Amino acid sequence: MQVTIIKDCGFCFGVRRAMELAEAAANRFGFIETLGELIHNPQELARIRSRICTKHSLDEISGKAVLIRSHGIAPEIIQEAAVRNIEVIDATCPFVKRAQEIARQTTEDGYQLIIIGDAAHPEVIGIKAWANHSALVVANVKQALALPSFDKAAVLAQTTQTMEVFEACCKIIAEKSQDFLCFNTICNHTAKIQQRTASLAQQVDAMIVVGGKNSANTIKLAQVSKGAAIPVFHIESADELDCEILGSFGSIGITAGASTPQHIIEEVANRMSEFEKLEVEEVQVAAEATENAMTEQEKSDAEAFAEEFGNMKEIRRGARVKGVVVQVKDDELLVDIGGKSEGVLSSAELSQEDAKNIRENFHVGDEIDVLILRKENQEGYPVLSKRRVDQDIAWDKLAQMKADKEIVTGTVTDVVKGGVLVDVGLRGFVPASLLALGYVEDLNAYVGKELQMKIIECDKHSNKLVLSAKAVLRSASKAQKEKTWAEIEEGQTRHGVVRRLTNFGAFVDIGGVDGLLHVSEMAWYRVNHPSDLLKEGDELDVYILGIDQENEKISLGLKQLVPNPWSLVEEKYPVGSIITAKVMRTTTFGAFLEVEPGVEGLVHISQLAHHRVEKTEDVVKPGDIVKVKVLAIDPEAKRMSLSIKAAVEPEENEVTTEHIDTTEE
Ligand code: F3S
Repeated sequence: MQVTIIKDCGFCFGVRRAMELAEAAANRFGFIETLGELIHNPQELARIRSRICTKHSLDEISGKAVLIRSHGIAPEIIQEAAVRNIEVIDATCPFVKRAQEIARQTTEDGYQLIIIGDAAHPEVIGIKAWANHSALVVANVKQALALPSFDKAAVLAQTTQTMEVFEACCKIIAEKSQDFLCFNTICNHTAKIQQRTASLAQQVDAMIVVGGKNSANTIKLAQVSKGAAIPVFHIESADELDCEILGSFGSIGITAGASTPQHIIEEVANRMSEFEKLEVEEVQVAAEATENAMTEQEKSDAEAFAEEFGNMKEIRRGARVKGVVVQVKDDELLVDIGGKSEGVLSSAELSQEDAKNIRENFHVGDEIDVLILRKENQEGYPVLSKRRVDQDIAWDKLAQMKADKEIVTGTVTDVVKGGVLVDVGLRGFVPASLLALGYVEDLNAYVGKELQMKIIECDKHSNKLVLSAKAVLRSASKAQKEKTWAEIEEGQTRHGVVRRLTNFGAFVDIGGVDGLLHVSEMAWYRVNHPSDLLKEGDELDVYILGIDQENEKISLGLKQLVPNPWSLVEEKYPVGSIITAKVMRTTTFGAFLEVEPGVEGLVHISQLAHHRVEKTEDVVKPGDIVKVKVLAIDPEAKRMSLSIKAAVEPEENEVTTEHIDTTEE
């Protein structure tokens, strides 16, 4: 394997200078506090934490001095530090200082300053402050096009900006301005390392980008590398190197962000060359063996040796070979992979399913594919893995399924931040937003459920497998919707599920299509609110009242599925019968009583009592249950005349009522 490191990558001039100033200050004061992280590199920050620590405002500064990092800071903070008697050690990079000075001067001269960069980056926030906070920030051509016209405009760039974006934005703003000034403040170091990275990425099989995952500069290097369409590994330290994977590439390039110290780059390079040495060692061993085959006797063994060598050259770390099971134990297998000794395959290197019962799953003579993890363990046996081969195969299979847009089935195993994990042979992630058609309130309810999913992202190298159950549900729902529209007719009864309640009704899913069940169509009696009768998730039969295919609207009814109570009133409550009813409301001319839900009758004031009644409320009030006689019925007009007077004898103390809310003890 060939490893190439970009020349001059890692600490730039500005960051190195800031580090040196910080070290000197720490020597002078015992420790030094910085406003914001001195560099975007967690490992390095952790290493120097006891002497150089990060603070986020002047209020947090406990020492006599504060160090301004290379990104620079707003002038008012420097002034405030002076007022508080805190010494300022200004490690602002001279290139950033120049941009700040341009910002100050052009603003003073009446120019509208425009910064081409990331508005949230501390360097840009700082420069903006030097322009009295009046500068505009644009990140790209689209935003530049949206700017208004200017009498006087001055443009400068965030130091890590790409020349391509800066030039394109300048051109647009120049056309919008009467008087235009342009200052190229892009840092040479950044541009140079980006160019070198782009060029090396075109020549190697994979790139390693070393630096903080939150470093804008390093992220840009990773983006530049990805432009070459090769695998890119963004790591913060050598510990993240996966030699098993990297071993499969013939050539690897290494680049590093401006906040990455040299010792971390060296550690990565050393780790890579250690790995490379192992490979070289193996090639040399094989070559020496060939040279020793000189005597007649040895020559007679040449064929056998050649055969053995042919096999031995496969015994190298990272190689995938075929082997034959020669012994099955409770917790491991011995596998003949054609070398001097059998390889050891422990249960930890089998899939969970395979490891459950090794003796049942494997038999002597079985041929299996294995990966060589180590050439030798302490006892001199090669160390093998079948699990990783299985994973490799699973990745390939899933990549093919993604290409073929196939549906994959898997079970939800865990809930994690932002979604769930699923087992599809490999561990995949389903974001909460892609789990169902609607919002999912409780992700835990999905654990153990089997899902059908489409593969959104499948990247073996970054170990990223993202799936969507929503995509499958959406396709199914679309098909179901079309089927439903083709089937439905007015007057049909369909089974449905209440999806949503509103003040005026309920939306009921009748098969991928929602129809509106208006509150007035829910029952023959008055329903105050849909929630009095229904709740979301209820399953029910509904009647199709109307279909407007053009506007995709369906009106539904529920009451149509039961008889209108007025159609049975004459039969159930014949004229002359005595029944009980509940007083619903009183008026000046009498009281309305509910005979049953949906059927109300009127007791006229003259029918309330045997004596003359001045006010209805003197005799009955809402909630009273009273005995009444049916005087007349008009089902068509939905009218019923009732009489309390006729239901009781005059001497029966006028009226017999029972109060629902009685307080008698
Ligand atoms: Fe300065 Fe350029 Fe570094 S602006 S901080 S030398 S990347």
